[in-house]
Amino acid sequence: MRIETLAVHAGRHIDPATAAVSSPIYLTTTFERSPEGEYPLGFSYSRENNPNRRALEECLARIEGGKDALAFSSGLAVSTAVLHGLEPGDHILVADDVYWGLRRVIGDIFGKAGFEISYVDMTDLDGVRAALRPSTRLVWVETPSNPLMKVTDLAALAQVARDAGPNVMTVCDGTFATPVLQRPLDCGIDMVAHSTTKYIGGHSDVVGGALVTRHDNYLFERARRAQRYGGAVPSPFDCWLTLRGVETLPYRVRAHSENAMRIARCLREHPSVEAVHYPGLAEHPGHAIAARQMSSFGGMLSFQVRGGKDAAMAVAARCRLFIRATSLGGTHSLIEHRASVEGPQSRTPQNLLRVSVGLEHADDLLEDLQQALQV
Ligand SMILES: Cc1ncc(COP(=O)(O)O)c(C=O)c1O
Repeated sequence: MRIETLAVHAGRHIDPATAAVSSPIYLTTTFERSPEGEYPLGFSYSRENNPNRRALEECLARIEGGKDALAFSSGLAVSTAVLHGLEPGDHILVADDVYWGLRRVIGDIFGKAGFEISYVDMTDLDGVRAALRPSTRLVWVETPSNPLMKVTDLAALAQVARDAGPNVMTVCDGTFATPVLQRPLDCGIDMVAHSTTKYIGGHSDVVGGALVTRHDNYLFERARRAQRYGGAVPSPFDCWLTLRGVETLPYRVRAHSENAMRIARCLREHPSVEAVHYPGLAEHPGHAIAARQMSSFGGMLSFQVRGGKDAAMAVAARCRLFIRATSLGGTHSLIEHRASVEGPQSRTPQNLLRVSVGLEHADDLLEDLQQALQV
């Protein structure tokens, strides 16, 4: 079945009690045992599982082409659960421009866990090969990356990790691309992490995360334990909202991509713009790989404004339609000065604005950016 069909049907069942087409929200913490003391329907307590969560997990596994999925209460709860599965002394290879929050999880939450960590440029596969160690257990990549939109060749990276031995698991953060545009598991990556807060939920109204696996493996099973007993689980309503968002995901993501392409092309010609980072542009260093690996280039882009930080902040301040807010993947277009969000340790250029292109009409968005860029 195609992804548009799976997005609507996978994980859904007509409600056996009422024949409702849209699933009820199972606001129950607990489930009755049979007289024999069993749970014949598979649900016992909602931290461990719940029908709405199960439906979401089934759907996400199907649309990603995976074997199983786990839903969490946020995207960072996914990273936390995966890292929980590692042992002291294990080595992790992380993309150097990975979402800054993951660096914080590694440094602040797992600072005393005894992991060895290397941040590497994953677009340089020789560098990745050189950084692998006998103790490497996890390779965490994000493509396109945040906020410079660097593109990593997932099939080549998966091969490099496989060559290093069966204990090296690869995880791709697929938040920007979604399973509609990019298929990391088909490229040989072991697991995909999503902040479902973004495109998958799609309406800026629910925080969540998911881990999807291609095959049974120890890190996924440990993440399942961290989900059930660590307890960072999404509520039934959060799962219901996220699954509702998935229904329109394929159509939304294509519209986001079309709008972003138009905006990237216009920004590239603007005299106040120093650089545009969008993998759909032919001059983007990752364009050839993105063209092969993605079915379209997504709704995220960033650009650097001539004149430094103050000029960039002034452009964001003049926007009337683009909302100055963090996050991405919703219907509203958002703009943000990324270095301010990331704080003093940010490695992001000070004149960079990151844009999540929404579903408004592209002409209206372009008019807004043109007036904001004019001095
Ligand atoms: C690429 C990426 N991964 C993970 C996360 C973390 O997700 P959440 O905010 O749902 O915890 C974010 C959040 O912005 C993100 O942009």
